[in-house]
Amino acid sequence: MTAPREEVLLRHGNATRVAHWAVAIAFVALFLSGLALFHPFFFWISALFGGGPFLRILHPFAGVALVLVFYPYAAAHLRDNRWLPVDGRWVRNMGAYMRNEHPDVGETHKYNAGQKLMYWSMIPILALLLLTGLLVWQPWIAPHVPAGVRRAAGLLHAVGAFVMFVGIGIHVYAAIWTKGSIDAMIRGTVSGAWARFHHPAWYREMTGREPR
Ligand code: HEM
Ligand code: HEM
Repeated sequence: MTAPREEVLLRHGNATRVAHWAVAIAFVALFLSGLALFHPFFFWISALFGGGPFLRILHPFAGVALVLVFYPYAAAHLRDNRWLPVDGRWVRNMGAYMRNEHPDVGETHKYNAGQKLMYWSMIPILALLLLTGLLVWQPWIAPHVPAGVRRAAGLLHAVGAFVMFVGIGIHVYAAIWTKGSIDAMIRGTVSGAWARFHHPAWYREMTGREPR
């Protein structure tokens, strides 16, 4: 007798996965090159980018590329990130959820409230990074910007980069510890058991079956 085959659900289509990993690769390149620009202590990182002058040219173009991919990606996934009444319960139980105590967080849809908070926080943070990055962009825009504005933009750019690093750090940590999530973004699929456990309302929407 053969064992019943586990269900497999499509979580992220090809276009979503390509866009997401393009954003992730650009982020890592931006963060590393940003560190090298931020302080001489990190200057050795510039060796990874072919040296200081090239890194300095590359960083803002990589930033614009990230923004150009991220916003259409975010717009395409807006519907799944709308805030729902059930999300408040997830936020109230966040501590217990992180400690793996399995609190009743209600039935999560495609994304839980933590994922939605990450999504919504990236929208203004990337706008801030783009605006402040443009203002300090040599030799194109910066020469036309008053020195005081440039200094403030440089500071805000570094603060925005730090906030983004913390936000994406939590995102990556959660993705690694939620077994099956990385696979979802690499292969595009998840098991029915994964969906029933982490996103029961989404499971019901996808299959028409009850999750428990
Ligand atoms: C969104 C588009 C972005 C643009 C147009 C941009 C542009 C720039 C420019 C022109 C500089 C100054 C480089 C120089 O010294 O000549 C800079 C510095 C820097 N960038 Fe970006 N960047 C962007 C995104 C990012 C992102 C996403 C991060 C990290 C998550 C980041 C981190 C940094 C850091 C840490 C510095 C050094 C800041 C300082 O020393 O004050 N940038 N960026
Ligand atoms: C740097 C390495 C990164 C890793 C390992 C990673 C991993 C993942 C994984 C595994 C998922 C799928 C989660 C699920 O299906 O439930 C995901 C979703 C997502 N990631 Fe990333 N990610 C990274 C970087 C980024 C960056 C830089 C951004 C944005 C600036 C980002 C934005 C998103 C968004 C918006 C989603 C969908 C969640 C939602 O729309 O609420 N990721 N990521």
